Amino acid sequence: MGVLHLLFLTLSLTAISTKAHNITQILSPFPDYTTFNNLLTQTKLADEINNRRTITVLVVNNVAISDLATKHPLSTIKTALSLLVLLDYFDGAKLHQLSGGAATTTTTTLYQTTGRAEGNLGFVNITDLKGGKVGFGSAVAGSASDSAYKKEVKKIPYNISVLEVTEPIMAPGILSSSASDMNITARLEKTGCKTFAALITSTGVAKLFQAAANKGLTVFAPSDEAFRAPNAPDLSKLTNAEVVSILQYHALASYSPIGTLKTAKGPIITMATNGAGKFDLTVTTAGDEVTLETGVDSSRIASTLIDSTPLCIFTVDNVLLPPELFGKAPLPAPAAEPVISPSHAPVVSSPSKAPVSAKAPSPVFSPPAPPLESPEEGPAEEPSQVEDSTADSEAGASSVKYPAFVQAVLSASATVVVSVFLS
Ligand SMILES: *[C@@H]1O[C@H](CO)[C@@H](O)[C@H](O)[C@H]1NC(C)=O
Ligand SMILES: *[C@@H]1O[C@H](CO)[C@@H](O)[C@H](O)[C@H]1NC(C)=O
Ligand SMILES: *[C@@H]1O[C@H](CO)[C@@H](O)[C@H](O)[C@H]1NC(C)=O
Ligand SMILES: *[C@@H]1O[C@H](CO)[C@@H](O)[C@H](O)[C@H]1NC(C)=O
Repeated sequence: MGVLHLLFLTLSLTAISTKAHNITQILSPFPDYTTFNNLLTQTKLADEINNRRTITVLVVNNVAISDLATKHPLSTIKTALSLLVLLDYFDGAKLHQLSGGAATTTTTTLYQTTGRAEGNLGFVNITDLKGGKVGFGSAVAGSASDSAYKKEVKKIPYNISVLEVTEPIMAPGILSSSASDMNITARLEKTGCKTFAALITSTGVAKLFQAAANKGLTVFAPSDEAFRAPNAPDLSKLTNAEVVSILQYHALASYSPIGTLKTAKGPIITMATNGAGKFDLTVTTAGDEVTLETGVDSSRIASTLIDSTPLCIFTVDNVLLPPELFGKAPLPAPAAEPVISPSHAPVVSSPSKAPVSAKAPSPVFSPPAPPLESPEEGPAEEPSQVEDSTADSEAGASSVKYPAFVQAVLSASATVVVSVFLS
């Protein structure tokens, strides 16, 4: 049994690592944490917690959470709760060892992963207070360690630890923050996209982005290396209007996280799309790699800087060249085509290297992306649906990889694992 059990444990952790624990289930036996537990479900933070290993959840009881729960919108509650999810493993013993070295340890929280955390906002300091007490507080200078450690609630060593603390960690401004408050330029500067940040600032495009950020915005920010590459355009040879078009070509007036891009069929319109040119992009997907094709060049999506409904910022490896401006450029011989997944085979306009006529009729398949000035409701109103569909499609994709009998074994072992963990 031992060996078999271990085998199953290993199998299930490698193959379906995303279902290693269930925070909702872990907290359900504790009546003191029902509000906290319900909020984790409502904010979908439970899914994020379940999808991570090596995590510590600081819970507060129904009384301590009531102020936050009753006086603030769900988006604010989500921010406050994500500061209570530490991306490291701390149990009671580890907390009390802190006094050995530095009296303060700084740790990353789930809030940091949203990209909305300015400065130290996404970090929490754990401080060994005198007399064996341990305090938690925002790492932002001047914050107090006013949330104190109470007790261990549940631990699965080095995977998930649930600790009770006296109250939520309050970082400055957290009760009034939203995605539209984020300084996009500052964020880009900090993450290797200085050239792009400088260009959008000097042309005023940054203001357009900032205005769109609370309605729905996706940015494909070329890295600084992309602007230094031999095939990068010489911007000094272009008019100001052309530079603006190129910059707007790197953004969509809609919230399109990676899972949404993967399902895009046909060309997608960009913020540069207008009466004078299509300025659209085609998305191709090969496994986890997502590539944007312009018709002149293409670029891999290198990383997700921010995915925080309704704002998404990706970095891309190349400057995207719209055919409307670069259609006549000499083209290198096409490299081997990436394998395109079957669901993307029937793309309407193939990403051929031929320049696309600006007069071509606009594609019927473009997803709705309301123009900036449109008063229509953006996707901001239904953030969770988007996240859900992404999660579902990813889960669907990964389960397809395993034959039915393996899945049966895996889910059986998952059940074993979960029940072992909970016993
Ligand atoms: C976690 O547990 C809860 C309640 O026990 C259940 O409703 C939910 O479906 C579980 N979630 C997952 C991802 O298994
Ligand atoms: C948090 O800890 C870091 C060092 O780890 C320190 O520089 C910073 O001042 C601390 N912040 C607060 C509010 O104590
Ligand atoms: C905890 O996670 C580690 C990998 O980080 C894994 O090797 C170990 O088996 C897990 N333990 C349990 C009890 O799930
Ligand atoms: C955003 O950050 C940039 C540089 O980091 C700064 O120049 C600009 O004033 C900031 N904008 C706002 C609205 O704070």
